[in-house]
Amino acid sequence: MPLIKLCAIAELDRGFPVRVEADGFPPLAVYAYAATYYVTDDTCTHGQASLCDGYQEGDVIECPFHGGQFDIKTGAALAYPCTEAIRSYPAVINDGWVCIAAENQA
Ligand code: FES
Repeated sequence: MPLIKLCAIAELDRGFPVRVEADGFPPLAVYAYAATYYVTDDTCTHGQASLCDGYQEGDVIECPFHGGQFDIKTGAALAYPCTEAIRSYPAVINDGWVCIAAENQA
């Protein structure tokens, strides 16, 4: 299974997601939470906001534009005005990096 490296674990602080550009994917957000790592699309489904500019509280990311919220584990929309989920991707840890499988490309 070919993997795409997104972000070194050493560069991730809890509560501060990192925005990553990877070929074949929309902008991605990489999160650390409770000794685990999560990957979602970075662009809010309500507007063109980067969720990495928002506020992570536990397993919830709040959009910086209008305060909509998403579950970083599933991508589910949790708070108005967001009603459409963001895509989430299974994170794979490999050699100190957070990766996703290339087969997840759109
Ligand atoms: S753009 Fe994200 S809540 Fe409006």
